[in-house]
Amino acid sequence: MSAVQNVIDVQGLTKKFGAKTVVDGFSMKVPKGSIYGFLGPNGSGKTTTIRMMCGLLRPDGGGGTALGFDIATQSHEIKARVGYMTQRFSLYEDLTVTENLTFVARLHEIEDAKGKVNAALQEYDLAPRANQLAGQLSGGWKQRMSLAAASLHEPELLLLDEPTAGVDPKARRDFWERIRDRADKGVSVLVSTHYMDEAVQCDFITFIAYGRKLIDAPAADIPKEVGLHTWRIEGAHLHEIYKQLTGAPGVDQVARFGSALHVSGRDEAALERAVAPFRGDHDVMQAKTGLEEAFIYLMGGAEDNFK
Ligand SMILES: Nc1ncnc2c1ncn2[C@@H]1O[C@H](COP(=O)(O)OP(=O)(O)O)[C@@H](O)[C@H]1O
Ligand SMILES: [Mg+2]
Repeated sequence: MSAVQNVIDVQGLTKKFGAKTVVDGFSMKVPKGSIYGFLGPNGSGKTTTIRMMCGLLRPDGGGGTALGFDIATQSHEIKARVGYMTQRFSLYEDLTVTENLTFVARLHEIEDAKGKVNAALQEYDLAPRANQLAGQLSGGWKQRMSLAAASLHEPELLLLDEPTAGVDPKARRDFWERIRDRADKGVSVLVSTHYMDEAVQCDFITFIAYGRKLIDAPAADIPKEVGLHTWRIEGAHLHEIYKQLTGAPGVDQVARFGSALHVSGRDEAALERAVAPFRGDHDVMQAKTGLEEAFIYLMGGAEDNFK
């Protein structure tokens, strides 16, 4: 394992495609051993940023290191030590699971490829599917095979680009158990995701929109960073209240949580005025803003507020 403190340390990363700046002055440090969530709406520049971080794409501005190696000049060293799971399935549909893993093992010139592939088949519970064509696997199993492939050369850092997009909830949970296993073994993980239940699992979260970083903090601090206040309303006719409060002055967001509404806003006084009329017939109480509300808010097109 390398001795660096931050497995990713980049400053001012900028990328233009034609006239469009798709990543704009992005800086980030990923502490060794952490699981870092990389969040943001589609088209925000997550994939572009990840590709720059592992030396696959040259930035137009800025720079930095991955595992202590320069992303501009040492991509070979980085590739040897980083496991990158691309957003699109990038293995061979017409090869079996074993053949795919063996192929990847050869690419990395892994010694004892056969032994390593067998160990991975066991570890990822892929053995019963070893001889199935990858193209015939379900989405969840494909992703699991991709993670096994990305981990075969025992990378110190995993870059996972929306690894569970389109995968069913159970397969997603299983996948996250695997990520935790990796992290417990000292592997650092940067994972982009759209899913709130996954964001909650991360130690740190950075959020970008339109190529610019809006938030970067320990997951537990995100609600405070977003600056939302929240009231909880319980009682009858919540759907009616939902409609009345949506878009009302002082209300930035209304979200249903089980048998309650969570009404959130950044202006504390205006928010209190908005929920006050419901006090007579309903239980209206101040609540702590959780990561869930913050995340819904961030993903829900509220980025205008940050511009
Ligand atoms: N090779 C490319 N050429 C031109 N535009 C691109 C290219 N790759 C990405 N883009 C554009 O850059 C923006 C950011 O894309 P991307 O990094 O894929 O975002 P995300 O992963 O957050 O969805 C998008 O507007 C996308 O269309
Ligand atoms: Mg992407």
